Amino acid sequence: MSSTPRIVNSEDLPSWLGSMMRTFFRPPVDEMVEHYRTAIDLSRALGVFDGNEAVATLRSAAQEFTVPGLETIPVSALTNVTVAATHRRRGILTDMITRDLASSAERGEIASILVASEWPIYGRYGYGPAVFSNRLSVDTTNIRFTRPVAGAVDFSDTDEFDRVAPAIYDRHRRHQPGSILRDEHWWDRDLRRALGGSDVNKNFQAIYRAPSGEEEGYVTWVPEPKLDDMRTETSLRVEALVATTIRAYHALWHFLCTSDLQRSVTAALRPVDEMLPLLLDDGRRVRTLGQHDFVWVRLLDVPRALSARTYGTSGSLVIDVQDSLAHAHGRYRLSVEGSAAQCERTTDAADLRVSVAALGSVYLGGVSWAAHADAGAVSEETPGALELADHLFRTARAPWNNTWF
Ligand SMILES: CC(C)(COP(=O)(O)OP(=O)(O)OC[C@H]1O[C@@H](n2cnc3c(N)ncnc32)[C@H](O)[C@@H]1OP(=O)(O)O)[C@@H](O)C(=O)NCCC(=O)NCCS
Repeated sequence: MSSTPRIVNSEDLPSWLGSMMRTFFRPPVDEMVEHYRTAIDLSRALGVFDGNEAVATLRSAAQEFTVPGLETIPVSALTNVTVAATHRRRGILTDMITRDLASSAERGEIASILVASEWPIYGRYGYGPAVFSNRLSVDTTNIRFTRPVAGAVDFSDTDEFDRVAPAIYDRHRRHQPGSILRDEHWWDRDLRRALGGSDVNKNFQAIYRAPSGEEEGYVTWVPEPKLDDMRTETSLRVEALVATTIRAYHALWHFLCTSDLQRSVTAALRPVDEMLPLLLDDGRRVRTLGQHDFVWVRLLDVPRALSARTYGTSGSLVIDVQDSLAHAHGRYRLSVEGSAAQCERTTDAADLRVSVAALGSVYLGGVSWAAHADAGAVSEETPGALELADHLFRTARAPWNNTWF
């Protein structure tokens, strides 16, 4: 067997996908091979093969990532990372990921992002947790919203939803730091067309229209029916609730929570600063059932990353970044004047020292510099630098991402 990763070709796909699915405890699905042939950039898919059989998989895709200030930056989205149980702990992941990161840096991608299956894996490669998610439940019995809703929510069939929802999502993600784009292949899979078979779309869908008729949001949900002594205990599980305006957000939650024959609404992958409790006469009806890390960020080009976003105040800091893979290693001056930020290499003395993983974690403002300093990943060389860093990087709303990749 050669343990050197190589780029995958079209003939490799059945074995490559089979190996990947097996590691995630799922049987391979025939339709996936066809879907992957057209949906993925094969030149960015790596495999390690034992003869013709894949024993390790990894691929990345070009993505757009929205940062504070609403610029979208080119990043690499890493996914499908697996090493067969028979071939673990021999350095195969390390080979694949260092190769993928080097290619991303060569292409000029500013960062690599991923969703980690397990927390301990990716810090060593310079990734830090940057976007967190909440899972919540709403007790909807006799629920009351404090203000009236405007506009209309209508049920939608899959054809209409498919025509309308992608454009709504695209407007949403351009205004939501932490979000990424969804291409047509993503929607194919989401609407379960690509995988067909028994895995058909079981969602209900509704679209919100403003009084002017403008489509400003949508919700998809799956009812989980339950009757107890003829009393309904049905819950509605939200798959996605996306709104480009506050009135759409308000009306969609109102529609779900006040619809008949249900007692609760649950939702995962929600923002950690969900606004819903503030719209209710009793905000405690919304309970956070859990919180977890979602998107991890690994910066590759510090000057472009830090120049791309806007900041909470003006100021200047010299940040010394430690990166054992070299991409982000070095000392940089970040200078912010109003909405203009500049970041370039410098030889000036450092105000702060930070690991590249911690810098990725604070990049979107979702985790504080102070927290990483307390945890030992940031050291303050100039008194006051830590406080200034937090004032600079802080954002009014938390970063959020509701797109699996
Ligand atoms: C995660 C996975 C890809 C690691 O592959 P691997 O080839 O065994 O990793 P490597 O041999 O390159 O290990 C590199 C280092 O990471 C550590 N590591 C790898 N996986 C780890 C895990 N799950 N938990 C903790 N540490 C882990 C190794 O111990 C090693 O540490 P060291 O350098 O200090 O010795 C593999 O275990 C796997 O396929 N897991 C199931 C699928 C999965 O979780 N994929 C990730 C999707 S996001």
